[in-house]
Amino acid sequence: MAEGPASTVREISLAETRPLRHAVLRPHETVESLASHEPADAFAVGVFDGRELIAVGFVAPGGEPDAWRVRGMATVPSARGRGAGKAVLDGLLAHAVAAGASRVWCNARTPARSLYERAGFHAVSEEFEIPGIGPHFLMERYTGTAPG
Ligand SMILES: CC(C)(COP(=O)(O)OP(=O)(O)OC[C@H]1O[C@@H](n2cnc3c(N)ncnc32)[C@H](O)[C@@H]1OP(=O)(O)O)[C@@H](O)C(=O)NCCC(=O)NCCS
Repeated sequence: MAEGPASTVREISLAETRPLRHAVLRPHETVESLASHEPADAFAVGVFDGRELIAVGFVAPGGEPDAWRVRGMATVPSARGRGAGKAVLDGLLAHAVAAGASRVWCNARTPARSLYERAGFHAVSEEFEIPGIGPHFLMERYTGTAPG
């Protein structure tokens, strides 16, 4: 990614993702409520600019056997458009594929659609509204033996 030499991309705990997910994605919820909807077997990735955590996301098995779901993608507003989201998504995809995922999917917020398309996802639904959050597309990416 184009963040400069001080930036690092690494696994983080789900707890570390919560402040950014809360601020960017679900400010109307409490952090406790956000945490209560997390899958126990999730894998999270963070991007740090120096010591500041600037982007997060996580992936977990879900939907059907060998399917994994990406959730909680959030970058601090001042750091957007510089590749941090792509770095998180690449890390999540690598983990899911290594764990045996044949399909990775997400409910993508409409403004984030091109981020997922650049990572090989495509939309497989009409645009739909999630109440209180906004318009989304169901997007998916096949891996391994069924390239998408
Ligand atoms: C979506 C998001 C995680 C991308 O993070 P990022 O670090 O900016 O990602 P990258 O720099 O790797 O890629 C930029 C892409 O993000 C998307 N994006 C959405 N909102 C954006 C914004 N305000 N600024 C820049 N990019 C934005 C676009 O798809 C953009 O691609 P484009 O240049 O082709 O338009 C980030 O913009 C964000 O936190 N948005 C608000 C929360 C959100 O919508 N999360 C996704 C839920 S599915």
